[in-house]
Amino acid sequence: MPDIDYFVKMAHVSNPLREPILRSAIQTLQFPLGSRGLDAGCGIGLQALLLAETVGHMGHVTGLDFSPDFLVYAKDLAKKAGLSGRISFREGDVNKLPFDDDTFDWAWSVDCVGYAPIEPLPMVTELARVVKPGGSVIILAWSCEKLLPGHPLLEARLNATSAGIAPFVKGKKPESHFLRALGWFRDAGLEARTARTFAGDAHAPLTDDLRSALIALFQMRWREVKSELRQEDWAAYQRLCLPESPDFILDHPDYYAFFTYSMFHGKVPA
Ligand SMILES: C[S@@+](CC[C@H](N)C(=O)[O-])C[C@H]1O[C@@H](n2cnc3c(N)ncnc32)[C@H](O)[C@@H]1O
Repeated sequence: MPDIDYFVKMAHVSNPLREPILRSAIQTLQFPLGSRGLDAGCGIGLQALLLAETVGHMGHVTGLDFSPDFLVYAKDLAKKAGLSGRISFREGDVNKLPFDDDTFDWAWSVDCVGYAPIEPLPMVTELARVVKPGGSVIILAWSCEKLLPGHPLLEARLNATSAGIAPFVKGKKPESHFLRALGWFRDAGLEARTARTFAGDAHAPLTDDLRSALIALFQMRWREVKSELRQEDWAAYQRLCLPESPDFILDHPDYYAFFTYSMFHGKVPA
């Protein structure tokens, strides 16, 4: 299926931007060695690998996703990384998790809970249900970026399109925005609620990996925005953001960009 192939390709290509930030988040959480956790909406399992490393050989991570196609890739990645022994994958829906109450020490989800165009509270409540008293529920999502240094107005206009505000959609209630997740955690009965943002950087000279990741990010963030832009902004976008342009911004010798993931953390009452 072309969508699956596109997602898998983008997940791999964008990983050099995401992985260092998510590693920092995992380091901060200090999951105990030997703990057992859930990666909800694990996709092709890129973070399940990082999580499995952090819980050590006595720990275990269950990756769950409703796409069997992604799970095929995920199992293969875990096998190639030599981590099959401490990661298992399960097909299922985060809204109705196929696990008993109090199964895990922690549950983690990246770019899934609160990121899909569906109600976040039932998902957070489900994550809390399967975590043991005193355990942690953690959700993260990509929350902002500055990718066009020197062109703040153009970047603001690109971000003011429907693709630019995705996965939020115009007309959706403000409480559904990912950055309102503290409210979902409160309503799900979680305690010790915290929020924190982690940043990643990229600057010239860019490695080939970072360059490819940024090209993919330009496409992911601002594809199909032409009809929502003024003609001169569309022309400026093409001039600055297309690799074949002589003014491609990633070729600028002073290029610098940053991007963030925001993490919400809460504890299941003991
Ligand atoms: C943007 S991807 C993120 C994947 C992975 N967490 C990552 O950061 O690389 C969102 C993933 O959540 C999964 N997903 C979305 N809604 C879900 C649900 N209700 N139950 C299970 N998986 C879901 C999708 O199939 C997809 O793999």
